[in-house]
Amino acid sequence: MNFERRKDLLGLKDLGREEIDLILNTAEPMKDILKRDMKKAPALRGKAMVTVFYEASTRTRTSFEIAGKYLSADTVNLAVSTSSVQKGESLRDTIKTIEVMGFDLMVIRHSMSGTPHYLARNTKMSIINAGDGANEHPTQALLDLYTIREKKGTLEGLKVAIVGDILHSRVARSNIYGLTKFGCEIRVVGPSTLIPPEVEKMGVKSYYSLDKALDGVDVVNVLRLQKERQETALFPSMEEYANLYMIGREGLKRAKEDVLVLHPGPMNRGVEISSEIADGSQSLINEQVTNGVAIRMALLFLMMGGARDDEVAS
Ligand code: CP
Repeated sequence: MNFERRKDLLGLKDLGREEIDLILNTAEPMKDILKRDMKKAPALRGKAMVTVFYEASTRTRTSFEIAGKYLSADTVNLAVSTSSVQKGESLRDTIKTIEVMGFDLMVIRHSMSGTPHYLARNTKMSIINAGDGANEHPTQALLDLYTIREKKGTLEGLKVAIVGDILHSRVARSNIYGLTKFGCEIRVVGPSTLIPPEVEKMGVKSYYSLDKALDGVDVVNVLRLQKERQETALFPSMEEYANLYMIGREGLKRAKEDVLVLHPGPMNRGVEISSEIADGSQSLINEQVTNGVAIRMALLFLMMGGARDDEVAS
């Protein structure tokens, strides 16, 4: 399949199923590179990328950086907390300054929805959205799709429950956009205050009962309770939330026997997921992190280097 090279990756809403397939397929040989002793391929030699995170991150920022290094790109992280942003430099001026240094691609995370879209219109660099407010987190959803497909062999027709703070979750939105393109049945479940009423317009079914939502599902994707985005108390207490919605051994009995459990991290153990499940045999949380590197290598390769899915770095 020919790949019409995208300048930017801003979300899964505007990505076609064929493009998602191409990214997932390209991540497979990238994962093989990760298994080697010598984890280095020359595909992006001479290319330069920068990560700019206005919000905290462990997984996304680090995996983009190492993904670029494994493919021989020059990678730089702008430490926002010690940059001239602290002297009041505007986002636009910061980005222009980075652009004229010759970077080819920028990975950006920002608390304001739409920031990567604004930048994409105003810079020649490729932009990858690493999370914008409560809007989208496309690379997280791509690694989730990859992880599910790797274990189940297909995404087609799976029943997937997304549990918790749907209202504030860019992970949920990107997963919904991605999974609906593969004909999955998607259920969202949580307290009514954390489920936006308009979410059913995205082709999902809302539940307030965890038992009903988990009945017969193939996959449970557990969301982090985003305490930092909750301006008002949207549920009585953490204890009450955990009593009703924490994914533990009992609740999972409603799901299929071979149910897979995902969590994007970082986890609030004992709030949205029990340690027994997080560290148990059904959990794919560590695989998700590894696959995140492969997915990000695939994206960097497709956006900065490669042209076709049969041309992956050797
Ligand atoms: N899942 C995720 O985005 O994790 P980080 O905030 O650590 O990047």
